[in-house]
Amino acid sequence: MKPIGPIPTAFAAQKGELTIGGVGVRALAEAAGRTPFYAYDLQIASRQVERFRAAMPEAVHLHFAVKANPHPAVIKHFMTLTDGLDMASAGELERVRDCGADMGHVSFAGPGKRDAELELAISLGATLNLESESECARALKIGEKLGITPRLAVRVNPDFELKGSGMSMGGGAKPFGVDQERVPALVTEIIASGADWRGFHIYSGSQSLDADAIAESQKASLALAAELAQAIGEAPKSVNLGGGFGIPYTANDTPLDVEAIGEQLSTALDARDEVLRDTRFIIELGRWLIGEAGVYVARILDRKVSKGQLFLVTDGGMHHHLAASGNFGMVMKRNYPVAIGSRMGAETVESATIVGPLCTPLDKLAADIAIPQAEIGDYVAVFASGAYGLSASPVNFLSHPIAAEIVVNGGKITI
Ligand SMILES: Cc1ncc(COP(=O)(O)O)c(C=O)c1O
Repeated sequence: MKPIGPIPTAFAAQKGELTIGGVGVRALAEAAGRTPFYAYDLQIASRQVERFRAAMPEAVHLHFAVKANPHPAVIKHFMTLTDGLDMASAGELERVRDCGADMGHVSFAGPGKRDAELELAISLGATLNLESESECARALKIGEKLGITPRLAVRVNPDFELKGSGMSMGGGAKPFGVDQERVPALVTEIIASGADWRGFHIYSGSQSLDADAIAESQKASLALAAELAQAIGEAPKSVNLGGGFGIPYTANDTPLDVEAIGEQLSTALDARDEVLRDTRFIIELGRWLIGEAGVYVARILDRKVSKGQLFLVTDGGMHHHLAASGNFGMVMKRNYPVAIGSRMGAETVESATIVGPLCTPLDKLAADIAIPQAEIGDYVAVFASGAYGLSASPVNFLSHPIAAEIVVNGGKITI
C-alpha cells in the first residue's frame, strides 16, 4: 500500500459525502451536468490572501500568477483581493482584459513573446517583463510605431536559484531573463529611449516548501536589485521578488511556514539599501493562492481485478489532470491526496489503483491506496487540484469530453 498526500483540512463531509464550499459532490455534479469536474472553493482562496497579508510586511504587494488557474471567475476573484496580475501569454492578457482588470497592475513575463503579444501588452498599458535584449529592441520599436510609451521591466536571470524548489528558474544558463551582469547596460538603454522603466523582475523558482530557502532568495533578490540600481544610477519603481510558495502534494510534504518567511522578509526590508527606499515590492504567487482550493472529481465507471490487483476505472484521468498522474514536472510518481468523495470517513477495507479511461499506463490518478468499499457510480476526489489542473493537461488526447469547471463561493455556484 502506498501513502496519499495530505487532504487539505478546509474540506468537510456531510453524512459521508464530501462538500466543497458547503455543497455536496452529488449536487455539484448535477450543477455541472456531468463528471468529471473541477470545483474551486473561493473562500479558501480568500483565506490564503488574508494569511499572506497578515504574515507579510505591509510594503509587500501580492500578485496572482494567472497561469496557475485562468478560470474567469478565479481571475475576477483575485482581481479584487490582490494588487496585480501576472500574465504568461497574449491569451492570458485577453482573459484579464475581458475580466476588466486594471492594466496598470498587470505584467507579462515569459520567453519568446511574439510581436503581436508585445503589441497587445503595450497597447493595453501592461508592464512587459523583458526576457532578452532583442525582445527589448522589438518592444521599443512597437512602442514607437504605436505612439505609446511602453512600460518595461527587466527580468533578471540571477546567479542564484531558489534552493529545493520543484522548478528552478535561476542560477546558471536559463532561457528566462537577462543574465544579471548584462542588466545595467540594458536598463540604461531603456531609460535613454524614453520608455517607462518599471524595475526588475527576479523570479528564481517555484513550488518550494522551505521557508528559509525562500527567505534567502528574497534577501538575495533585494541585494541584487540594490546592486543593479546602484550600477544604473536610478531607483527602480518596483522590484518583483519572485514567489515560489509551494503547497503539500504528497505524503512527505509539509505545509510552508509563510509566517517565518514574513518575519525574515520584514527584517531584510528594514535593512534594505537606501536606493530601494521608495520601491514597491511584489511577490507573485499562483499555486499557493489557489492550489488547495480546488478538487477534481471523477466518477467510477468500472471495478475490475487483474492478477489480484483492484483497479477502479474512472471517467477522468491524466487528460484532465496531468499533474495528479505524476507527469507534470515530477521526478518521482507519488500519490496526490485522493479520497472516495461519496464515502468520506468510511473505514478503509481494500487497496486499489485508480485509473482513467486512456489506453496508457501513465493514466493513473492514484496507485495502490487504501480505500473504503467503492462501487461503480461512486465519486473519486483528487485534492490540491486548484492550480495547474485542467489548463496544464493534454485535454485533446484521445478526444474524451473536457472536464467541467465550477466555482463555489459561500455556497453560490458559478459554472
Ligand atoms: C515567472 C513566473 N511567475 C509565477 C509563477 C507561478 O508559480 P506558482 O504557481 O508555483 O506560484 C511561475 C511558475 O512557473 C513563473 O514562471
